[in-house]
Amino acid sequence: MKKKVYIETYGCQMNVADSELVATILNGEGYELTKDINSADVIFVNTCAVREHAEQRVLSRLDYFNTFKKKKPAVKIGVLGCMAERMRQSIFEQKPFVDIVAGPDSYRNLPQMIETTESGQKAVNIILSKEETYEGILPTRYDSNGLSAFISIMRGCDNMCSFCIVPFTRGRERSRSVDSILEETSQIVKDGFKEITLIGQNVDKYIYKDVNFAKLLALVADEAKDLRIRFATSYPQHFTEEVVKVMADKPNVCHYIHLPVQSGSNRMLELMKRGYTREWYLDKIKMIRDYVPDAAISTDIIAGFCGETEEDHKDTLRLMEEVAFDYAYMFKYSERPGTYAAKNLKDDVPEEVKLRRLNEIIALQRQLSEQSNIKDVGKTFKVLVEGVSKKSKDEFFGRNSQNKVIVFPKGNTKKGNLIDVKVTGYTSATLRGEII
Ligand code: 5AD
Ligand code: SF4
Repeated sequence: MKKKVYIETYGCQMNVADSELVATILNGEGYELTKDINSADVIFVNTCAVREHAEQRVLSRLDYFNTFKKKKPAVKIGVLGCMAERMRQSIFEQKPFVDIVAGPDSYRNLPQMIETTESGQKAVNIILSKEETYEGILPTRYDSNGLSAFISIMRGCDNMCSFCIVPFTRGRERSRSVDSILEETSQIVKDGFKEITLIGQNVDKYIYKDVNFAKLLALVADEAKDLRIRFATSYPQHFTEEVVKVMADKPNVCHYIHLPVQSGSNRMLELMKRGYTREWYLDKIKMIRDYVPDAAISTDIIAGFCGETEEDHKDTLRLMEEVAFDYAYMFKYSERPGTYAAKNLKDDVPEEVKLRRLNEIIALQRQLSEQSNIKDVGKTFKVLVEGVSKKSKDEFFGRNSQNKVIVFPKGNTKKGNLIDVKVTGYTSATLRGEII
């Protein structure tokens, strides 16, 4: 009988994509996935180390996983991904019942690692690679809605932003071959998906032979003409006009850009080692809007980074208003051991000040999102029908090109269709509409 593996995934889309690779690797070695933790022989948790909070959550999940091991001692527990890389052996000290610690570049070895643990030993592999892109492994999209597929086009990050653990947990930047990306694209088309998102920590730095990100985006858009194409994450310093032009020219590339700014203060941007200024960022926004006037733009913001003053914070609020972001992911600064900031800067903004600033940022973004939604009322958008609304079984929800969720009465359409929906109302979080 095949052994059953249960995988729980935290963190970014890269982790989701990695869990899909793990699924394929284990399937090929005689394991099968299960969604039922009770029946699992192996429990994996794919983890994120970007903020302390994310780690705390996983640590308490591990105690829960241990309750299954207590019932059935043959169960193996493995920590995958960024926390495995950051904490290494110390995971075993904190959680001695963990059997496997596997970093993001070690997944091809997971079958052997599980085997090692059969005799009661621990298995660790946290070696980072300069080459591993999991070429030749087609992801098993076990948790997908059947419409939306992610393609991981590159791994790692060389930016070394001073606050960020990612370069340490995911290693050096490396791009996957164009051929393997296009092969995966055509498989996704055959499998009936409706949307592809090209993902990487920093997609603008994709480079394979003479193919840069803009060229890759155009190639994928042509290969999957009837599918929507999205991408994430872009980086202000490297984001190019060429990419925006592809967005303007290719009808199936969605008008949505996630461009993390982190702070609106030049002093903070410098301390964050982001490599751009507020003015540079605003120029990029202008360029996007010149080519693609209806593009939606979202961002990431960190509140209370080292040495942040009230004036720096106000610069962030002013920048948010100036850009009028459609959406934002907002965080309190969380010091990560080993980063430049942890070693060289002081995490000196008091917790309550961080929280108050974060709340101001969230409140402002709520207004901005609402203003952005007000402007959509009366407009008609192409919407990909994604499923039945959580709030009402008589309604569907879907997203427009700008990545905004629209809820509307079902009519006689179905999941997977691309239909015209006219926006009739809004809240700060969603649009309401009707099929036309
Ligand atoms: N503290 C808080 N937020 C962080 N991010 C990355 N590192 C940290 C940190 N140490 C945020 C950034 C990044 C997003 C993925 O997570 O905004 O863009
Ligand atoms: Fe972290 Fe910067 Fe890389 Fe994003 S680009 S993952 S913020 S180092």
